[in-house]
Amino acid sequence: MTNGFLFREYIGAQFTGVQFSDVPINSKLAFNFILAFAIDYTPVNQHPTPAPTNGVFSPFWDTGNLSPAAVAAIKAAHPNVAVMAGLGGDSVQDIVKAVFTPTSIDSWVANAVTSLTGIINTYGLDGVDVDYEHFSRGADVNTFVECIGRLLTQLKKNMPWITTSIAPFEDPVVQKYYQPLWGKYSGVIDYVNFQFYGYGDNTDVATYVQFYDQQSANYPGGKVLASFMTGNTTGLISPDLGISAAKELQRQNKLPGLFIWSADSSKRSSYGFKYEIEGQQIIANH
Ligand SMILES: *[C@@H]1O[C@H](CO)[C@@H](O)[C@H](O)[C@H]1NC(C)=O
Repeated sequence: MTNGFLFREYIGAQFTGVQFSDVPINSKLAFNFILAFAIDYTPVNQHPTPAPTNGVFSPFWDTGNLSPAAVAAIKAAHPNVAVMAGLGGDSVQDIVKAVFTPTSIDSWVANAVTSLTGIINTYGLDGVDVDYEHFSRGADVNTFVECIGRLLTQLKKNMPWITTSIAPFEDPVVQKYYQPLWGKYSGVIDYVNFQFYGYGDNTDVATYVQFYDQQSANYPGGKVLASFMTGNTTGLISPDLGISAAKELQRQNKLPGLFIWSADSSKRSSYGFKYEIEGQQIIANH
């Protein structure tokens, strides 16, 4: 039996050859992989550069290692594992920024529902995580709110079992788009994957807790997950600080779960999956 608390990890954006089976999985908690990313852009091998497709999503993660068969295998081996698709992300495989570029609300939502339902069925996925970080000039806040809100509403209506989340970070533009989305559509958003690893390396545990409290106030009633990053964290919060902060948040009884960016970075780091093990121990011992 899992204890109802959640550990999540992004995987597949950096093409380090990481596989689901590389990542240690603690059986006492709910474990979500988030495939990074499904994007509504044309493929990387066409055109001069990938271009927006108005809500027609394709997988841009490492589909060679993270295939439908690999999803089925990891879920069969670990009944507490679910697998999500992250939507958007920072860039299309580091070639161009992934920019939210809808032509209209209705057409974007229709395309997104159809294409994501196809990807969810093909890969046997269990949810989506909204990760857009860039917004075209024509996409105002209301357009984003309605596109994403209606998309999540439709997906949950058609597939009531799916888990949904949003992944904002501390940036005025990003908060300007995601807070109104939360304000209107929190009823169809299960978790807030707040990217706390965007904060600077001068953050100590007390300050991290302050940031956590601030973001919980910005997303009222939300299950805000703590987070940290592995790999090169120059200038940013270190994984050791992330672990200490998660312990303190748990001690204060605030922590619904924790996520790490990313399995790819851990795979190529000198310390491997040490922080995945430590992070899950915190969540498992709730
Ligand atoms: C780590 O990241 C910093 C800041 O982005 C960069 O300047 C540095 O070159 C990176 N180091 C390595 C080893 O990749």
